[in-house]
Amino acid sequence: MSQTSAARMPAHRTRIPTPANRTPVDLSTGEAVRVVGQVLAPLVAQGAIIRRPRATAWAERHQVDRTARAVLSGLRERHDRAPLAFGVGPRRFVVVTEREDVRRLLEDSPEPFSPATKEKRGALAHFQPEGVLISSTTERWHRRPFNEHALQMDQPVHDDGAAFVDAVRRGVVELTRQLDSTGRFDAYAFHEAWWGIVLEVVLGTKARGDRELVAILNTLRRDANWSWLHPRRTRLREELDRRIASYLRAPEPGSLADAAHRSGPATAVGQVPHWLFAFDAAGAATLRALAMVAARPGVRERVLAEAGQGGPAALWQAGQGPALLPYARACVLDSVRLWPTTFVVLRESTGPTIWGRRTLPAHTGFIVVSSFFHRDPAGRPHADAFVPEAWLDGRNDGDWGLVPFSGGPAACPGRNVVLLVASHLLARLATRDLRVARGRYLARDPLPATVDHLGLRFRTAGSA
Ligand code: HEM
Repeated sequence: MSQTSAARMPAHRTRIPTPANRTPVDLSTGEAVRVVGQVLAPLVAQGAIIRRPRATAWAERHQVDRTARAVLSGLRERHDRAPLAFGVGPRRFVVVTEREDVRRLLEDSPEPFSPATKEKRGALAHFQPEGVLISSTTERWHRRPFNEHALQMDQPVHDDGAAFVDAVRRGVVELTRQLDSTGRFDAYAFHEAWWGIVLEVVLGTKARGDRELVAILNTLRRDANWSWLHPRRTRLREELDRRIASYLRAPEPGSLADAAHRSGPATAVGQVPHWLFAFDAAGAATLRALAMVAARPGVRERVLAEAGQGGPAALWQAGQGPALLPYARACVLDSVRLWPTTFVVLRESTGPTIWGRRTLPAHTGFIVVSSFFHRDPAGRPHADAFVPEAWLDGRNDGDWGLVPFSGGPAACPGRNVVLLVASHLLARLATRDLRVARGRYLARDPLPATVDHLGLRFRTAGSA
């Protein structure tokens, strides 16, 4: 299969006529309690917007995604694959269990299935009230094209890719300095280096050390975990905007800030907070992919072979900027398939929608539980295995059950930028012979349902 498969946007899935959706079934109180208590509550507890380290450690200990899958599989079987309807207070929700239903929700966004759900608006407004994800359909008209243009959504390698990869190189130097002096690093050291890379990629080299900006963003993200329940900190958010605007005023060539400036300076300041926030997920995905490289010598060999044993110079294609690295990209994709960073993809209907023999009212919330679909073994024998190859040989193509970057008109426009940055980081770190703590659980399939990326610890082979 072509190299571009791992770079292709899921939005390119061909549209086929939608068969009639099944009629939603109302869950009994006991069933609804299980969905809320055993599927949704553990996800909310871990922090939808910024992870809570104690909760993610707890989630791994209890393998919460395995329990969630058992609950949803049982209900899917019992109710013949119908969408599962239930209420939480005054709010009506529907959890879908069929790939066809996922397809409908995502393809028919933003109307009648809006990504700007009540829960997301409550959460994201803490730090990105103008973000495209929580925008009305009218606001989306200009904010979505802005994002697609600045992030060069359809281009596997962004025009400024060379500068991004240079930022990665500096981050790796920082991380390996620690590795060389102590023989080890953990998720927190990784994130220190990662934020340096992210700040440089998004805002330029001058921003690399601006940890105050990260601290402000993360404070607001912690508030956002509570959605409407937490009061807004207007002053702090204005401070975040001020700092971002200071980089956007005189954007550094090669940064996303520059691309944003070129794509529409007036829109940029409202969109950049989402980019910074979303790069955190990319760090988590890279860290788990690195754990797979460290736990599986065969994977490491392939990453190295692709990057060229000759070292970092081989990461460049003469005269063409950074190499595409399809296998390393596919490793990151399979990491985010196995352990999705967007726990649930949410939609809210903007008007009544017909499902089989029922009409569901406007403002129904629709929930796609990512890990349930990503690990669904139906028609996918490799569901619980690490199989980057499946992103390259066509096996994962056109599968609406695989939505780590969502799909359809509101799919993640940052996918290719993420895969470029993450794959180059992975390739550079793979040159070190790393071991990951508790790697035996990752060395074989089936893989654990839940892996706490914040608990990952690496050391060089041979160090105690
Ligand atoms: C591993 C990293 C990432 C993953 C897994 C990811 C995944 C997603 C998903 C699932 C959505 C849809 C959310 C929804 O419908 O509720 C989304 C939306 C979005 N992502 Fe990403 N994302 C990542 C990183 C990034 C980065 C780094 C950027 C920007 C530089 C970015 C920009 C966006 C934007 C602007 C949207 C909103 C799109 C819209 O509403 O039209 N993402 N992303």
